[in-house]
Amino acid sequence: MIVYFSGTGNTRHCAAQLSRLTGDELFELGPDELSRPGGILLDTSDGRIVWAFPTYAWGVPPVMERFMSEVALGEKAMSARHYMLTTCGDDMGYTDLQWRKIMLARGLDVAGAYAVVMPNTYTLMPGFDVDSRELALKKMEKSRSRIALIAKAMEEGSGDLLVRGSFPWIKSKIYYPLFKRFCMSPEPFHTTEACTACGLCSRICPLGNISPGKDKTPVWGRDCALCLRCYHSCPRHAIAYGSRTSGKGQWLCRK
Ligand SMILES: Cc1cc2nc3c(=O)[nH]c(=O)nc-3n(C[C@H](O)[C@H](O)[C@H](O)COP(=O)(O)O)c2cc1C
Repeated sequence: MIVYFSGTGNTRHCAAQLSRLTGDELFELGPDELSRPGGILLDTSDGRIVWAFPTYAWGVPPVMERFMSEVALGEKAMSARHYMLTTCGDDMGYTDLQWRKIMLARGLDVAGAYAVVMPNTYTLMPGFDVDSRELALKKMEKSRSRIALIAKAMEEGSGDLLVRGSFPWIKSKIYYPLFKRFCMSPEPFHTTEACTACGLCSRICPLGNISPGKDKTPVWGRDCALCLRCYHSCPRHAIAYGSRTSGKGQWLCRK
């Protein structure tokens, strides 16, 4: 079973490709699962679970950390082999070590960890933007052979396939906790005058965190994964995060 969380579709695409190669069933996490993980019972007869999610600030997205720590696991899931599949725009630092810690705290058998470089989606800080169309498509193209390699590694048990990047210790041990503490607020989200109050963002939010306000334009609640699905999906590019998204692009993996 491949259990996945995806903001903008990159991880969904990789999970679906892996599922095609391995035959493992797909399980997408949405508002029901992510907002009350303790109320969900997960089990599988596949003999393994692949936990798939994007890399956030060189670590595990807090929403996935909560889900993996709290979800109830059935007997077969408890005795299954567990794998991590992360997608990242550039590099993942020590995301795998954070994931291992969560798995080991639950007494699960950790079998392998894999990373795939996909188009960048983070736009909320100066200097961070989506990739050029050309680079994004190149990454998509390269991801195919990477996933084939991952499927083979899973079958053969031939070890991890990671994209550690430079200075992983600083990124994962210093930036990640700072990011979690100071950079995850949904408060700066707002709409520009281009918003037509179509309601798409509230329908697609993976946490059900966006609701229509008085004039039907969206209002963000507190339970935000910062996945940016709303920002990247808006057909009018009318969602902004303070002034930090000004002049930035959009990316959505529609495959
Ligand atoms: C909040 C946030 C933090 C991110 N941090 C990183 C990072 O530390 N390293 C990286 O290479 N990419 C980072 N990215 C890019 C995503 O990991 C990458 O684009 C991923 O494939 C998105 O997957 P998704 O489409 O399934 O959400 C970040 C994206 C977001 C939204």
